[in-house]
Amino acid sequence: MIPTSTPTDLVYLSDLLRRMPKAELHIHIEGSLEPELIFSMGQRNGIPLAYPSVAALRQAYVFDNLQSFLDIYHTGTSVLKSEQDFFDMACAYMARAQADNVLHAELFFDLQTHTGHGLSPENVVNGLHRACVEAPTRYGMTAALIMCFLRHLDEQAAFECLEQILPLRDKILGIGLASSEVGHPPEKFARVFARARELGFRLVAHAGEEAPPAYIWSALDVLQVERIDHGVQAMHDAALMQRLVQNQIPLTVCPLSNVKLRVFPTLEQHNLLRMLDAGILATVNSDDPAYFGGYINENFTQTFAALGMTAQHAYRLARNSFAASFIDAPLRQRYMDRLDAVFAA
Ligand code: ADE
Ligand code: ZN
Repeated sequence: MIPTSTPTDLVYLSDLLRRMPKAELHIHIEGSLEPELIFSMGQRNGIPLAYPSVAALRQAYVFDNLQSFLDIYHTGTSVLKSEQDFFDMACAYMARAQADNVLHAELFFDLQTHTGHGLSPENVVNGLHRACVEAPTRYGMTAALIMCFLRHLDEQAAFECLEQILPLRDKILGIGLASSEVGHPPEKFARVFARARELGFRLVAHAGEEAPPAYIWSALDVLQVERIDHGVQAMHDAALMQRLVQNQIPLTVCPLSNVKLRVFPTLEQHNLLRMLDAGILATVNSDDPAYFGGYINENFTQTFAALGMTAQHAYRLARNSFAASFIDAPLRQRYMDRLDAVFAA
């Protein structure tokens, strides 16, 4: 049921945004590692950090672009050593997600980063998967895993990574593509995505975060992904917009990330509302919340205030999040019913 009245009361809208059930579909679990957790894990694992304190680390979170962020983000992952670390990291995120009324999350993880640090794929996947299995009882939500290939590495490395997870196949829902975008187009991973598709993985890819619309076209046509992560550059290509609208291909948009990484100069200039008005199936997500100044509800409340969005937009974005998720139809219906109940009240 779509509400017909537009609340003018911003406090009411902000409360509604926080209370409404939602799914989060674009969250890098390594990007949820808060500086406090980086320090405590560093201590527990005997890993020295280049920053003297939690405050000093947090102060370093000022970025010029995606690459300047990725450099510091990769440093943060160096404290992760054991299966328990991965379990704890995912649980810390899910506790925050539950507080934001997230009913379902699809968690990205960068296996190649961790195997590059000498960890076994089993430690990484089993720790994260155990957190997903315990999510319904611990946090009242469901969760699943999407492993992202690192696009700054080569095709051979992606194939080796895919090979490594085959014994863990049942614990991973999908495959994605992340890391430095410009100069690493989707075509580089055409064959390994084709193999992942044969193996039955759901497919997504970061495209059109910093790179031009051509990257979104090839994520769709070459990689044959089902969702586009970010995709905000699509607005520069009318034919692409038509394709995304006609086929209702979801975009997992991350407004605070886009401002922190200078994709848009300010939140007021973000194109989320323009994309929704054009008929795009957009969703709101946090990307790397420990680094970008807020979890999913902070993304909702700040973006709604900046763009003057309404309760109708809130309903549509929350509904889109369930529509775009990879959950099965009965669960999707149950979650949408819970969303409708909040808006009916
Ligand atoms: N890995 C973590 N966050 C990312 C982002 N915003 N873009 C690409 N790769 C990422
Ligand atoms: Zn991302």
